[in-house]
Amino acid sequence: METIQYKKLKFPQHGDSRGHLVVVEGGKDVPFDIKRMFYIYGSDKGVVRGRHANRKSEFVLINVKGTSKVKIDTGKKVEVVSLDHPHEGIYLSRMVWKEMYDFSEDAVLLVLSNEHYDPEEYIRDYEQFLYEVNQKDV
Ligand code: TYD
Repeated sequence: METIQYKKLKFPQHGDSRGHLVVVEGGKDVPFDIKRMFYIYGSDKGVVRGRHANRKSEFVLINVKGTSKVKIDTGKKVEVVSLDHPHEGIYLSRMVWKEMYDFSEDAVLLVLSNEHYDPEEYIRDYEQFLYEVNQKDV
C-alpha cells in the first residue's frame, strides 16, 4: 500500500467582523500530535532553506503571513507547491526532501512537527537521501 508523502491541507476559519482566526489542532487538522513548532521569517527572496529530509519528523508548513514556495522531492517525483494562504498548509511525511524558497519580504513560515528537534535524524546530503529512500522500496 502506498503511504501519503505529502498532502495539501485546509484549516477551519472562524473569521468574523473582528478579524480572522484559524484553528490547527493536533490529531485533527494535522495528522499527528504536535510536539514542536518553529517559524521562519526574514529570509530574502534568493534564499533557499531546508535542503534536507528527515528520518523521523513529519511536518506541516503554513505561511501565516506572506508567501513562499516549497519544492517537494520524494526521490521519484518532484512537485512545487505555493504557500500563499494563512488557512492552508502542506503536510510532509518523513523521508521527503524539501526546499523552501521564493520568500516574500513579509513571509512568516510556521512549521509544526510530530517530533522534538534531533539533528541526528536530519539527512542533509541529497545523495544519502536518495540512497536511503530507495533502500526502503526494496
Ligand atoms: P535549519 O535546519 O538549517 O533550518 P531550515 O532547514 O528550516 O532552513 O536550522 C537552523 C538552525 O536552527 C540550526 O542551527 C538548527 C536550529 N534548529 C533548532 O535548534 N531546532 C529546530 O527545531 C530547528 C528546525 C532548527
